[in-house]
Amino acid sequence: MSTDDALPSTRWEQADNTGFAAYFSGLIAEGADIEGEARLADAMLPRGATVLDAGAGFGRIGAALQARGHRVVAAEKDRDLVAMAAVHYPDLPMVRSDILALSPDALAAAGHPTAYDLVVVVGNVMVLLAPDTERRALSTLNALLADGGRILVGFHPKDSPASSARIYPFEEFRADVEAVGLTVQHHFGSYELAPPSDEYCVAVLAR
Ligand SMILES: C[S@@+](CC[C@H](N)C(=O)[O-])C[C@H]1O[C@@H](n2cnc3c(N)ncnc32)[C@H](O)[C@@H]1O
Repeated sequence: MSTDDALPSTRWEQADNTGFAAYFSGLIAEGADIEGEARLADAMLPRGATVLDAGAGFGRIGAALQARGHRVVAAEKDRDLVAMAAVHYPDLPMVRSDILALSPDALAAAGHPTAYDLVVVVGNVMVLLAPDTERRALSTLNALLADGGRILVGFHPKDSPASSARIYPFEEFRADVEAVGLTVQHHFGSYELAPPSDEYCVAVLAR
């Protein structure tokens, strides 16, 4: 699978985010917990489910779900993070692709499932997409859901640690979700299922 270089550049690509890899390398070296999102994702799934980790970074969530027995494919556009994934998680199937370039045909051509029980879009991916591509990304991921499949999203609606992130109020996000034929099934304020808050948004989307 290739990433389509004609696609608009993401907010992530528009800033120097090299601190992200260094920060997580430090956490890994310390043996810190970097699997909180994956624990919630795992609780949402039957055993041996298909999972797409979209905007996977260096694959920490996809790898944690793979270790729990799921069939995981990770998709990431940033070349450096794809390379970092190969070092930390050499057994994690990873495609270097923009989310907007994912399709059943492209995934099938790379030998991956074409429909997923869960698509994970965590770690602020939604606020780091290219400007004005939120609906296109949600629609692209909707097309990759298996029957009954869901999308787990997590982002800072404001004050993201990534300087290039947009502000994305929950109600605007919800309008984008509904515009592409999805619905917000659950809305929490953390991966520990805290009540909804303005500080962090965890949402479960379904058709
Ligand atoms: C803060 S990092 C989080 C990475 C990972 N999800 C995690 O939680 O560790 C945000 C990621 O979103 C990715 N991203 C943003 N827009 C993307 C797009 N259109 N296609 C693929 N990846 C994208 C960036 O490349 C970056 O790796």
